This record gives sequence, C-alpha cells and structure tokens, in this order.
Amino acid sequence: MDINRRFALTAAGLLAALAIAACSKQEPAAPAAASAPPPPPAAARVLVVGTDAAYTPFESQNEKGDVVGFDIDVVKAAAAKAGIEVKFVNTPWEGIFNSLDQGDRDLLVSAITITDERRQTMDFSQPYFDARQLIAVKADSPVVKFEDIKSLKIGVQNGTTGDEVVGKLLGKSSTAIKRFESTPLALKELEAGGVQAVVADNGVVVHYLANNATGGFKTVSDAGFPVEHYGIAVKKGNAELLAKINKGLDEVKADGTYAKIYASYFGAESK
Ligand code: ARG
Repeated sequence: MDINRRFALTAAGLLAALAIAACSKQEPAAPAAASAPPPPPAAARVLVVGTDAAYTPFESQNEKGDVVGFDIDVVKAAAAKAGIEVKFVNTPWEGIFNSLDQGDRDLLVSAITITDERRQTMDFSQPYFDARQLIAVKADSPVVKFEDIKSLKIGVQNGTTGDEVVGKLLGKSSTAIKRFESTPLALKELEAGGVQAVVADNGVVVHYLANNATGGFKTVSDAGFPVEHYGIAVKKGNAELLAKINKGLDEVKADGTYAKIYASYFGAESK
C-alpha cells in the first residue's frame, strides 16, 4: 500500500469518526431549553409503608415521632437490598387494609398474620416472623387454658387474629368480647378490670407485661393456638413489588442481617 492510499484511508476513517462524534454530540444539546425537569423514574419513588405503630416491639412511635421497631428494621433492611426507598406512615389498624387497597400505602408491615381470608384481598411476602396467640390475665386468675376464659369478658384488638380465635370460642357476636382499637388499650382495660382476659400476639403481650410491672398480669399459653406467620402486604396483583420485597427478605435472611435485627429485639434466635 502506497503512502497516499494509506493516508486516504486514514483520513476517511477520521472523517467517519468525526461524523459519529458530531451526531452523538447533538443529542444532549437538543433539549437544553428551560423545560420542567423530567419526572423521576418509577423506581426512584419513595414507597409509603403503612404500619399501626401501637404494637411494641414490632412498631411504635418514639419521642421524636419516628416509627421504630422490629418490623421497621426488617423492612428497611429488605428494601435497601431490593434498591427501593421507603418511608413509614403510622396508619390505624382499623383502616390499614383499605389504605393499601386505595393506593394510599404501597406496603404494609404491621405484624400482620398471613391468613387465607386476607389473601383474597392482598398479596403477602414470604413469612418473616412466627407468632402465636397468648392470653393475659391478672396474676391471681385461675385461668390455665383457653377454654377457661369462656365465661369471662375478653379484650381483643378489633379485627385481629386474636379477635378471630376468641370469636370462634364465644361466637362472633358474643357481648363478652370487647373490641379495642389497639392492643395496648385492651391491656389497659385488663388492668382497670373492665375485662378479665386479653388475647393477643405473644410478642406484644410479653413485651407489655415486662414493661408494665404495675399491671399485675400473668400469661397463659395454649397449645391449641395455631402458629401464625407475619408477612409484608402489597396491593393484590403487585407482583413486581412483591418480588423485590421477597428478594430483599431472602438477602437479609441469608447474610445475617435478619438474625442481627432479631437478636436486638428478642435475643438469640430460638428456631
Ligand atoms: N398478628 C395479628 C393480626 O394480624 C395482630 C396484628 C396487629 N398489628 C398491629 N400493628 N396492631 O391480626
């Protein structure tokens, strides 16, 4: 190849390169006019997590008004792994499932037991915690098993699995069932003598008793109560978000993050 021909080829190559560079340069230059910034991509939206923050140690509000607790830490960790941003909004239990359905909340974490009935109207993540119902009575109560509370006034949090088991024992419409907006309110009523027993999730009852020494309560467990699994809820059909949350949960379980969070609230894992 003679020198001229080589030069011609090189020059052609150079021109082509310049042409490409010129083309690609045009792109960012085009929308430089002062228009509104484009909306952030869907993935960057901060997802709103609803939680009934009257359920220590799973979810509560601290002095600063921040929502804190075991559930909060688990969701924060799983969301971080899944690359989603979340914020927590205190949401009364009473309207919590509706808020998901209406789209006011993207996720719910609230020590929610996965039940077949709830599965009809929302989708649940894989289980992240196991619980059982536990009975709280005054320390001098003769109650030793679930059946024994049949003749008593019983406090439950309205619409919970505690409400459900007591409804099965007494009949849903029994006037002996006193339904409260929150579990702490039911336990306060036990202290005040308005009810003689409360049936609620073990973790919350145990925590309440440990922190309210003046209550003079004891707990009664009953092997007849089924094991319950807590799940994180998403709107029915939101498979994309559900997959992300499940992947996040897989990762926090696999890398020891979950065990660390668990231990910080409940001591070493006993399973
Ligand atoms: N695990 C029970 C249920 O799903 C009670 C949950 C109540 N949670 C709360 N944050 N108040 O019915």
